Amino acid sequence: MPYPFTEDDKMYEVIRTDYHLLNMMSRFGISLGFGEKTIGEVCEMENVDTTTFLIIVNYLRGIRDTGSYIYEQLSVSTLITYLENAHTFFLDFQLPYIRRRVIEVVDCSSENKIGMLIIKFFDEYIAAVRKHMLQENTKVFPYVKKLLHGERVEAYDMAIFSKGHDMIESKLKELKNIIVKYYKTDTDVNQLNSVLFDIYNCEDDLRAHEEIEDNLFVPAVRHLEKTVGNLSGTDSNKTKQDEEQLSAREKEIVQCIVRGMTNKEVAEELFISLNTVLTHRKNIARKLSIHSVAGLTIYAIVNDLVKIEDIKVGK
Ligand SMILES: [Fe+2]
Ligand SMILES: [Fe+2]
Repeated sequence: MPYPFTEDDKMYEVIRTDYHLLNMMSRFGISLGFGEKTIGEVCEMENVDTTTFLIIVNYLRGIRDTGSYIYEQLSVSTLITYLENAHTFFLDFQLPYIRRRVIEVVDCSSENKIGMLIIKFFDEYIAAVRKHMLQENTKVFPYVKKLLHGERVEAYDMAIFSKGHDMIESKLKELKNIIVKYYKTDTDVNQLNSVLFDIYNCEDDLRAHEEIEDNLFVPAVRHLEKTVGNLSGTDSNKTKQDEEQLSAREKEIVQCIVRGMTNKEVAEELFISLNTVLTHRKNIARKLSIHSVAGLTIYAIVNDLVKIEDIKVGK
């Protein structure tokens, strides 16, 4: 485990330790050329909250302090600037750059179905990322800025963050699978590999961005909501609403499934057809956004639908 940076460490040490942190530096609006200045001195010069800078830099290096006091220390306005700059980087630079490179390397002529599919997928992926980030820019950040001014406004559902992140990640995974598994090419394999490296790097960068949003920004906003008295957008309310949306029959089905019953056994137990069980299962998955028995099991335990001792392990 690396040691955490403090405000007395030299700023150049940050880049020397990990060059990936260059991106982070520019998202804080810090330019290079800081000579022998310390992190604290550079942050003060550049009007960046030192504590927030240190929490992010250490978080990106894998030193993740999850104590709740951390959310009180984070400067939410500094975080918003950081996230907005990251959005500009992804949308205006990184993703268009990778798209240009994919088009250079992948045969997109109408004879090459896989090539066309790759471009189509990539465009869909960029559109999904753009939609998600613009939603954050135009809905989430303005909401949080109002909170920062002490305004009590209609709460924004912060759970939208993680839902959007899951979707973005699964789309990119699919794209990489298509390229790696099915794309055969006469073009230079080194060129194709280098595009793949760009995609993998971008994926890592996006994942780190999403983690900062989920694990630092959202909890800091929740803390702010509590301070201002804007409480209706919290997780606990969300879980309760979701549970209430399940009908009594759907809850019975969840109870059967997590006890290890097959669909046929559920149908017999509840005197309904197999098709009805399948329809209920689809609706349950849609309502809860949970698609595995393992996930349903956790849901059922957390919401007191079953007791842990009723769960069959290994089925
Ligand atoms: Fe974002
Ligand atoms: Fe996001």
